Amino acid sequence: MHLHIVGARPNFMKAAPVVDQLDKIGSRPKLVHTGQHYDEKMSGVFFEELGMPEPDLNLGVGSGSHAQQTAALMVALEEVFVDLGPERVVVYGDINSTLAATVTASKMHIPVAHVEAGLRSFDRRMPEEVNRVVTDSLSDLHFTTSPEAKDHLLAEGVSEDGIHFVGNPMIDTLLRFRDTVDPAPVRKEYGVEKDFALVTVHRPSNVDDPAAAGALVEGLRRVSQRLPVLVPLHPRGRAMLEEQGLGSIEGLKVVDPVGYLEFLALLASARVVLTDSGGIQEETTVLGVPCLTLRENTERPITVTMGSNRLVGNKPAVVESALDEVLSGAKGGKVPPLWDGQAGKRIADTLVSLESS
Ligand code: UD1
Ligand code: UDP
Repeated sequence: MHLHIVGARPNFMKAAPVVDQLDKIGSRPKLVHTGQHYDEKMSGVFFEELGMPEPDLNLGVGSGSHAQQTAALMVALEEVFVDLGPERVVVYGDINSTLAATVTASKMHIPVAHVEAGLRSFDRRMPEEVNRVVTDSLSDLHFTTSPEAKDHLLAEGVSEDGIHFVGNPMIDTLLRFRDTVDPAPVRKEYGVEKDFALVTVHRPSNVDDPAAAGALVEGLRRVSQRLPVLVPLHPRGRAMLEEQGLGSIEGLKVVDPVGYLEFLALLASARVVLTDSGGIQEETTVLGVPCLTLRENTERPITVTMGSNRLVGNKPAVVESALDEVLSGAKGGKVPPLWDGQAGKRIADTLVSLESS
C-alpha cells in the first residue's frame, strides 16, 4: 500500500491528480494529512474544491519552530508507519512535512518517492532548500517537473535509475479547473473589476524581518499608485506586514487567503502578479500572466527562461521599474515541456508498475 503524505496548502494541488489517478486504476492509496496547515482557508477548502478524498488520518501537528514542528511530525508519522506498514511513502514538494516523512520512513527502511524532486534555489538560508536536499538524498524514486532537476540530482549522487521526468502535477490541477472558473463574479466580489495586481507573500526572507517587510510594503505602495492591488494574505507575517503599514495603503486591499478556484480566477485575470510563492511562479507561466517574483533567486528557473516570470527581489525601486516595463508590454511566454495535464497519470503509472515488478 502507498501512503501519501500531505501537510500544507501547495501539497494539495500536487497530490490531487496523483491520488485521483491511482484511484482510477484501482490502486487505492491512503492519504495522511499531517495538519501542518489547519485553518479552513489554508487546508479544508482545497479538499472540497479539488474533490480529494478526506484524508484517512489527520495528525493535527500544527505550528511551531522548525525543530518543534519537525520533531512532532516525526513522532506522529512514526506511529502511523508502524500501524499501517506501508510498502512505500510518497511525499510532495519541500515543506517540513515532506522532510519529516522522508527521514522517518527511511530509518524504518520504507522506500520514499519524492514528487517535485531536484528543484534547487542553491540558497540554504531557505528552509525549503534544506528540506529538498535531505528529501532527495534519502528518496529512491524521484519524480521531476523540469529537465534541469535531473542534473541537480545526478550532481548530488542520486542514481539515474530512479529519476523520472513526469511533468508538473500542480499544472494538472490548473488545467483541470482553468475552464470551469468564471473570473467576473470573483473580481466583482473582491472589487477588482479593472486591471489589477494580485499579490501573495509569505517567505520568511520577506515577512519575518522588519526591514525586509518594510521594503516590501513600500514597493507595494508604489504598485498601488499604478493599479489596484489585491493581497490574499497568508497568515505567516500578517502581523509584521500590518505593523509596517500594509493595511493602510490607498488602493491596496488585504483579504484572507482565498480558495483555489477563486484564486485561479483572480490569477488568470490579473494584469500582473507579484509573489514570493513557488507554485504561483509556475501557474502564471502556464497562464501567460506576467509574474514579478519578490525574491533574489528561484528553484524554478524554467519559469524565467521560458515563462512569464522575472526575479525582482524586494527593493522598492527595482519592483517599481520592473512593474513599469511589464505594464507597457504584452502577456505571454511558453509552457515548459510536459506541463500538459498528464503528470499525475505518469506518476501513478510508474508507482503501480514498480509495485507489481
Ligand atoms: C509552509 C512551508 C513553505 C510553503 C508554505 C505554503 C515549511 C518550512 N514551509 O510555510 O515551504 O511555501 O507552507 O503556504 O514547511 N499558520 C496559521 N494557520 C495555518 C497554518 C499556519 O495561522 O493553517 C501560521 C502560524 O502562525 C504558523 C505560520 O503560519 O506559525 C507558519 O506556518 P508553517 O506551516 O510553519 O510555515 P509556512 O510559512 O506556512
Ligand atoms: N493559492 C490559493 N489561495 C491563495 C494563495 C495561493 O489557492 O490565497 C494556491 C496557488 O494557486 C497555488 C498554491 O496555493 O496552487 C501555492 O501555495 P503557496 O504559495 O502557499 O506555497 P508555495 O508554492 O510557495 O510553496
